[in-house]
Amino acid sequence: MRLRLIASALLATLSLTGVALAQTEVITARREGLRGVGAHMEAMKAIADARGNPAPAVERIDAMTAFFTTFPTRFPPGSDVPQGTNPGQTRALPVIWTDNAGFLQANANMLTQITALRGAATGGDPAAFAAAFQQTGATCGGCHRTYRAR
Ligand code: HEC
Repeated sequence: MRLRLIASALLATLSLTGVALAQTEVITARREGLRGVGAHMEAMKAIADARGNPAPAVERIDAMTAFFTTFPTRFPPGSDVPQGTNPGQTRALPVIWTDNAGFLQANANMLTQITALRGAATGGDPAAFAAAFQQTGATCGGCHRTYRAR
């Protein structure tokens, strides 16, 4: 009886640890992905600032489309802990789940804006690309303001 209790307590602890480990992996992977997006934006900023030929940006834009298409699936419930910026920690705010419709909308806005950016990149007009790029940065901020801790 007692042994069984101990065994089941042990099992419960193990499975809780398993959940915590899985969340840490989810958090690490999504943050890595977001840093990749940040790198794409940095590279495109250089093009926009220089009013360069935007055609080479298309590949990066397509990678961003792929990333944001599945982005909301990277937020399983409970992956807003532990809060912080250290490895394994997260800045995802609880409002992602309490206002999930808003979060999904912010992500949909991102995808719409990335489509517009792609149009500007293939259009080949440096000024139009720079304007769309600026708008894209603002759209990132639109989600961060509400759903990401500072
Ligand atoms: C739909 C919401 C949403 C959109 C859109 C979004 N982000 Fe984020 N971003 C987040 C959240 C939430 C976090 C915090 C993730 C975490 O800490 O687990 C984050 C974190 C980040 C980070 C920090 C990664 C790290 O190392 O911790 C970077 C960089 C980033 N985003 C870049 C961008 C860029 C650039 C864009 C626009 C092209 C963008 N994000 C669009 C929600 C969004």
